[in-house]
Amino acid sequence: MASKLTARPPRFVLLAAFVFIVILLSLMFSSKRPYVNDFPARTNPLEFGTGLISSISDEAPMADETGTERLAYATFLTATMANLDDPNDEHDLYFIATRILAWQILHSPVTATNRSIPFLVLVTEDISESKRERLTMDGATVVPVEYLREGTDWIHGEMPEWRDVITKLRAWQLTEYSRILFLDGDMILTGPLDDIFDIPAATPASTIRNEDIQISDEESPPPDKYVLASIAEVNPVHAPNPTVENGDFKDPDYFNAGFFLFSPSQPLFEHYKSIMNIPYRFDPRYPEQNLLNYAHRPEGSMPWQDLGSKWNIRFPNLDDLASGVQSLHDKWWHPHMDGRLNEFYQEVRWRMEGFYEAWDQGIGFE
Ligand SMILES: *[C@@H]1O[C@H](CO)[C@@H](O)[C@H](O)[C@H]1NC(C)=O
Repeated sequence: MASKLTARPPRFVLLAAFVFIVILLSLMFSSKRPYVNDFPARTNPLEFGTGLISSISDEAPMADETGTERLAYATFLTATMANLDDPNDEHDLYFIATRILAWQILHSPVTATNRSIPFLVLVTEDISESKRERLTMDGATVVPVEYLREGTDWIHGEMPEWRDVITKLRAWQLTEYSRILFLDGDMILTGPLDDIFDIPAATPASTIRNEDIQISDEESPPPDKYVLASIAEVNPVHAPNPTVENGDFKDPDYFNAGFFLFSPSQPLFEHYKSIMNIPYRFDPRYPEQNLLNYAHRPEGSMPWQDLGSKWNIRFPNLDDLASGVQSLHDKWWHPHMDGRLNEFYQEVRWRMEGFYEAWDQGIGFE
């Protein structure tokens, strides 16, 4: 007993010294990381005054005569499915998925942007500091967002992991960007996506206003122009290069909200919020997806535009991979339809790990 008591203070002092040294070393090391400057990480693009933005308005700036536009890729990350008591970030599958996306969009020689388009990760408050820091080191721009929960008591998604997906709508508040390609975290790229910003469906359309289109006065008015382009959701079993004629879509008018291109707009955000606050205006089983499909229904004032199936596919199989589709909507840790994709997913995952391991050590990145 007595020896235990006398032994305690030195152990504590040693531990404290050790922790101090580790913190000191990590601070010194992190400030030396060569790549931090390549991707200036702003903690929150919603906070202005960074010098990067010349003028701010409610509406996103569209390309002016000089063609200046601010494009971005974005995804959304919550820790809904993570075990918050588990200190090992490697166990958070969606976090790894987001890192894969960061590497694929920013660095992979096969899929990365060649227009220096930034990759934004919208994070909710349950995403730990260590995860935010890792994503920033990976080159992503971490954007903290507040939960969107007010007036959503009636919205219960079918899956537990969809509890806070409606918060995705915060992306419409990123009005310093003109257009954004939004991807759910569970995406694997097979080719570059930059050219998607050039296709006609991805450019602004005028909101249709005529007597045939009833705009509910419970809903706040939509803006005059909007961009909302996506892809119809295929059936789990479908042919490669799916077509309507072939019956490959459940409903060709219904898009999957895991992959869409849009233009941030505060009035549009308010419009969505007003819809969100009207119980059963849409079927809440697929919360943000059904809200957006309602707001952008083909017979409404802001019909969604079709990007075409070559850019992304839900429920992918090996034939889709061979067909040249540019991205697969699937979980890297569990192929939904076709186990044969596992090898490809694991290859992508470990290439990502290898890349960042080398980069962290400054190998080959002068
Ligand atoms: C960038 O990549 C696209 C494919 O997305 C390619 O067509 C284009 O030539 C590339 N541009 C440059 C400057 O490398």
